[in-house]
Amino acid sequence: MTEEKLNGALNGLSLDKSQEQVVTPWDVTGQVIDGVEVGIDYGKLMGQFGCQPLTPELLARLEKQTGMPVHPLLRRGAFYCHRDLERILDLHAAGKPFYLYTGRGPSSESMHLGHMIPFVFCKYLQDAFKCFLVIQMTDDEKFLFKENLSLEQCKKYAFENSKDIIAVGFDPKLTFIFPDTMYMGTMFEMVVRVQKLISFNTARAVFGFDQNSNIGQIAYPATQIAPCFSEVFPHLFGGRKDVPCLIPYAIDQDPYFRVCRDIAPRLKLQKPASLCSVFFPALQGLHKKMSGSSYESAIFMTDSPKAVQDKINRYAFSGGGATLEEHRQNGANLAVDIPFQYLRFFHSDDDEIKRIEEEYGAGRMMTGEVKKLCGRVLTDFITAFQERRALVTDETVRQFMDFSNNRF
Ligand code: TYM
Repeated sequence: MTEEKLNGALNGLSLDKSQEQVVTPWDVTGQVIDGVEVGIDYGKLMGQFGCQPLTPELLARLEKQTGMPVHPLLRRGAFYCHRDLERILDLHAAGKPFYLYTGRGPSSESMHLGHMIPFVFCKYLQDAFKCFLVIQMTDDEKFLFKENLSLEQCKKYAFENSKDIIAVGFDPKLTFIFPDTMYMGTMFEMVVRVQKLISFNTARAVFGFDQNSNIGQIAYPATQIAPCFSEVFPHLFGGRKDVPCLIPYAIDQDPYFRVCRDIAPRLKLQKPASLCSVFFPALQGLHKKMSGSSYESAIFMTDSPKAVQDKINRYAFSGGGATLEEHRQNGANLAVDIPFQYLRFFHSDDDEIKRIEEEYGAGRMMTGEVKKLCGRVLTDFITAFQERRALVTDETVRQFMDFSNNRF
């Protein structure tokens, strides 16, 4: 089954169930009420997936323990729930090791702003904890699930996207990037152990596979689960089996790690901990995540300042009033206003966010002004990124992917 067909099947399922929201690694669609697509109910997802909210007490503990201010993505609720963060903080307090694990499915030449969220967040965590970070590039996944992509293309995208990731600013000594096709030899023992513990019934129920799915797809979840276990990285942990990981990701990736937590005790290995975020929305509105499959819905890390501003002006859904009079009277609906939501993800200044919230919410600030500000903030972020990206060479990528020397 291709990713497109799988999406169709899962969408079909959702329609039968009175159009509930669908959130899987391949499809994110908000709830439909009376024929209108509304946003994603993240509270409901947290409950369904068995995660816990990130409470102010927990964030205060994180800040105190690391000595670093909590990241705006945490303060503003973009990362909103977790599993076992307390356990990781206990280990940190006791000076015991843990590592960060995240990844990217390289399906296109350029990453978009939504993809940057977990990586920007991982950089903060790596700076705060000074720990190893492993980044999986799933060239195999994209080859297996994307009908039109060749393995050569996926491998090339994995290499090029690694440059994007490196440009986020990770510590080369503490960061290991591994395309699956490169590292499978070392991972393989763990992958087959995991494969043996996941029945087709479970895979079908959790991931939506069916009789037409190719057998590579059915086996793939084991490949994304294997890096949760430290013995997969002997050059980082010297073969230790007991170092747990903390995985930041947007909530669409959660099924892998739920299954992982189920099987970890049977492998006598540590369950992974998670930090989950909401989606950085598409320009068209909160009911869709930003996705690379449509040029109009995403802002790419290769976009020029003009393209960024044009996309925001033309496509970004506005919560402002329909007429000037209505806007002045009722103010903007900030909860659905995409430029305001983007600012909440990327503006570093809390006071400025508060000011916009008050002024725009009260109708004293106009949509045009907020769109312009949003364009400026995103352009600054993308331009700085592009400058760093230009300095990343093929040799730099090879250094990040090197596993020939022990780093512990
Ligand atoms: P991929 O390439 O779809 O996405 C990479 C990471 O970006 C997150 N993400 C988003 N976050 C916020 N807003 C969005 N609009 C948005 N779109 C994508 C994803 O949740 C992901 O964290 N199979 C994975 C690759 C992978 C992985 C992992 C991800 C392998 N191992 C471990 C997380 C953790 C994938 O295709 O990601």
